[in-house]
Amino acid sequence: MLGIETSCDETAAAVVAGGEVIASNVVASQEDLHARFGGIVPEVASRKHVELLPLVVEQALTQAGVTWEDLAAIAVTHGPGLVGSLIVGVAAAKAYAMISGLPLVGVNHLEAHVHAAFLRERDGISPFAESGADFPLVCLVASGGHSDLLRVPRLGEYELLGCARDDAPGEAFDKAARLLGLGYPGGPAIERAAAEGDATRVELPRPVVKDSLDFSFSGLKTALKRQETGVRSQESGERRTARHGEGGHSAPAGWKPALPGGRRPPLPARVPALPATADLAAGFQAAVVDTLVRNTMEAVERVGARGVILSGGVAANTRLREMMAKEAERRGVPFAVAPKRLCTDNAAMVAAAGYHVLRRKGPDGLELDVFSTLPLGQ
Ligand code: KG4
Ligand code: ZN
Repeated sequence: MLGIETSCDETAAAVVAGGEVIASNVVASQEDLHARFGGIVPEVASRKHVELLPLVVEQALTQAGVTWEDLAAIAVTHGPGLVGSLIVGVAAAKAYAMISGLPLVGVNHLEAHVHAAFLRERDGISPFAESGADFPLVCLVASGGHSDLLRVPRLGEYELLGCARDDAPGEAFDKAARLLGLGYPGGPAIERAAAEGDATRVELPRPVVKDSLDFSFSGLKTALKRQETGVRSQESGERRTARHGEGGHSAPAGWKPALPGGRRPPLPARVPALPATADLAAGFQAAVVDTLVRNTMEAVERVGARGVILSGGVAANTRLREMMAKEAERRGVPFAVAPKRLCTDNAAMVAAAGYHVLRRKGPDGLELDVFSTLPLGQ
């Protein structure tokens, strides 16, 4: 099975056997290109997919050591994602299918993320198999656009238990990184900065959506901004200045450096320094991770899950992986997460999901369409 993925800013193609064995997995990231703009520029992404996709597909076939005749089908992401980007992948997949005579199958990007934990190297074992997890599973897909908490009674069947009410966690990381001047993409930038910081120096909420397993991260961003600019200290009558990379403060209003006659005024009581950027990054990361883990574990208990799967780009976050593993273990529930490179967008997961979708539903016709939103399990 050839997989093609162009839903966002990664141009990717992969060859996967039997829905799980990775023969090749090529990802051309446009990260550096979009970093200049501080975020993804949709038209730039589409143009880059047009330029890179044929080369990436050729490379995926070469690395797998296969020709078109060796393939069984072509799987392509057809939503959710940036429409202009999706169109490039789907149009290319249709052309390849027409020329090769191979069946074509459209894949939901979120379902593809779920399948990352089922992938393995030729002589390896998948994280899912290794964990001993069984159905029903609870799966969290945490990415740049989604925060979907799913009940998975069996592969291919999804029930949505909770989702993002506003910013998705990856989006929240990206916005927080911009606020802290840490660059793009925000997730890895926050994680790097957080490694030098102390989360306990920053007070941030763990947002709860009442009577629901939904997520709401937009308030967290506002709370971070308040911490970053020292708004709280202004409320208590002090003036502070925030300086990136260090905790600095200015003297309280009214304090004069010297009194007439050369006497020194009493030193002001020390104003605690504003949290440094690293502390803010660590605090923000901890708040997002705690919230994701809390709702996932609540879902696990609610549905009596026999396994937990963590997936999506945010699953590349080490603290999230560790905290989720720890909390699952505490409850005696097996936990599986793919290696980091398979958590962020790639085409191996698309080929893996495509294998199962094709068996379940048969091939799609050449009228296969693209969708900016394509819910899973509603
Ligand atoms: O799944 P993905 O590659 O693309 C989408 O489907 O959206 O997820 C991308 C998101 C970005 O928002 C990025 O900041 C976030 O995943 N991300 C991370 C990390 N690596 C990527 N977030 C937190 N920690 C990371 N290490
Ligand atoms: Zn994704």
